[in-house]
Amino acid sequence: MCGIVGYVGKRDCTDVLINGLSKLEYRGYDSAGIAVFNKNQKIEVAKSKGRLQNLVDKMNADGKPMGNAGIGHTRWATHGEPSDVNSHPHSGGRVTIVHNGIIENYKEIKDYLTDKGVSFASDTDTEVAAKLLDYNYNGSPIKTIMDTIRSLEGSYALGIIFADHPNVVYAVRKESPLIVGVGEGESFIASDVPAVLEYTKDYYLLEHEEIAVLDNNGVKIFDSFGRPIQKELKTADWDVEAIGKGGYEHFMLKEIHEQPTAIRNTIKPRIKDGLPNLEECGITPQVLREFRQIFIVACGTAMHAGMMGKYVVEKLAGVPVIVDIASEFRYRDPIVGEGDLVIIISQSGETADSKAAMHLAKEKGAKTLAIVNAMGSSIAREADMLIYTHAGPEIAVASTKAYMVQIAVMYLFAFEMALAVGKIDENECRRLVSLLEKTPDMIENLLEHKETTQYIAATLINADSLLYIGRGLDYALSMEGSLKLKEISYIHSEAYAAGELKHGTISLINEGMPVIAVATQQALFDKTISNIQEVKSRGAKVILVCRDSYQPEQNTADMKFGLPDFDDMLMPMLAVVPLQLIAYYTSVHRGNDVDKPRNLAKSVTVE
Ligand code: AGP
Ligand code: GLU
Repeated sequence: MCGIVGYVGKRDCTDVLINGLSKLEYRGYDSAGIAVFNKNQKIEVAKSKGRLQNLVDKMNADGKPMGNAGIGHTRWATHGEPSDVNSHPHSGGRVTIVHNGIIENYKEIKDYLTDKGVSFASDTDTEVAAKLLDYNYNGSPIKTIMDTIRSLEGSYALGIIFADHPNVVYAVRKESPLIVGVGEGESFIASDVPAVLEYTKDYYLLEHEEIAVLDNNGVKIFDSFGRPIQKELKTADWDVEAIGKGGYEHFMLKEIHEQPTAIRNTIKPRIKDGLPNLEECGITPQVLREFRQIFIVACGTAMHAGMMGKYVVEKLAGVPVIVDIASEFRYRDPIVGEGDLVIIISQSGETADSKAAMHLAKEKGAKTLAIVNAMGSSIAREADMLIYTHAGPEIAVASTKAYMVQIAVMYLFAFEMALAVGKIDENECRRLVSLLEKTPDMIENLLEHKETTQYIAATLINADSLLYIGRGLDYALSMEGSLKLKEISYIHSEAYAAGELKHGTISLINEGMPVIAVATQQALFDKTISNIQEVKSRGAKVILVCRDSYQPEQNTADMKFGLPDFDDMLMPMLAVVPLQLIAYYTSVHRGNDVDKPRNLAKSVTVE
């Protein structure tokens, strides 16, 4: 998520930090700030909500910190809305930090420190880390950092300065990326190489829990036991554009690869003692027991996540769920009111139709729950209850990682609701949660075997039209697979419930027409296979997405993407990955602008 830059050298530090942060703007952010050791060796902080230019304007008006060492940050809010006070850097007293990532156990640490008399100015998890560093500070920065990170759970890249160690910058990371740039008589830290490329091409890749110290003598790196280590100096030879995408050719591919981390960041803070816990989002078992029916209202991919949610909530909790397209819901005078829950799912939190649907639901007396990725967005601010997904900024217009975490949240919600209404017991709930926790590793594995999807995509590039078919959860997933393909490849496609084909659509099948059949549900498997054979016998070219253990016969499929054996219920989290990749590679093969498909915008704020 977002950006960190740090500098020690002879240049005007503020200029280097702002320039570096501007090179990281592609990562998305909602506020920015810097902390610089001024000429009197005192730390000066400037920060502002909004674009980097707001910060520059503020410094032009109030005075710009002048010095040669400091840290800077662009924030993508995860804890506390975007605001001046929540912007980084955060100070713990003697220690000032910038942070990318999420401190998952910030609440426990905050409670602990509050008991010790420490107070907090912001809502961020970052300030908690700053205060903990300060609380632990014993005059030795490295020792303090080592001691403190032992208590931190979650992901972090930290740039740290200590008031009594002027012109020295410290850095440490776990999960979130950080590099250390090495120039002539100057050094840098950054979330990504483009931030420093103008000054140097040489850099170290900081590994988990390694600590970097940058001062006027250069860079020293220590391992997690505080022992100095030598690291291989790397030289950037990618073009700046490619590095901006973390070495991936497109943001979409990068974001597909970020899915395991996005799931971990989203679910881990909501699991306590092996059970879902959404209390922090305002959702308790008592609240959940009050609802007689649920509406899920959203647009596009977010609506498809809602379809998935419907199947899971109805199956597990036995509560009726109606999924509505937001632009339909708002004008069809829906029968909704007190005692109903309306869930609005949105990556951006600014989609006009979804927002209007939420307003209508509120007017009619229903309770609203927003599942949103962009912190502080309109939908997030206005809903009665709120679950943030922590996918980080999604840049590609085609949504991938946001969808993944939306369905992960729908699962957690369904587990909690099923437990609350007594449809499952604690043991079953723990079993389901532990399965959900396994998905990030399984997806990582799948991503190592992309060749099959590349091959499948190559066979689709000249298709005029194709079908996606499936039953149950596989049908919900087919809708998403089909949307992904059409929005970036510009090939017409439709998703159909496999059993419904024979009522009309099957007449479209002609020789060689590609049909992507999703068959991950054991309970419906034989029925889906029969439907597949119906299209195959009429000439369709069938691409089957199913368990690897199934060996299709010649009259069933032409190609297969195999998935590991896993619980039916959670299979879609795995099966969506090949569908995303097939859409991605088809678009690449056709030479399209993958990240910015024609006629589409990332955030649709008009009706
Ligand atoms: C997804 O690939 C699409 N670009 C689009 O359907 C999107 O999901 C939809 O516009 C909803 O956006 P939101 O999640 O920001 O509300
Ligand atoms: N979790 C931190 C916050 O909300 C850091 C977010 C980021 O990575 O920018 O402030």
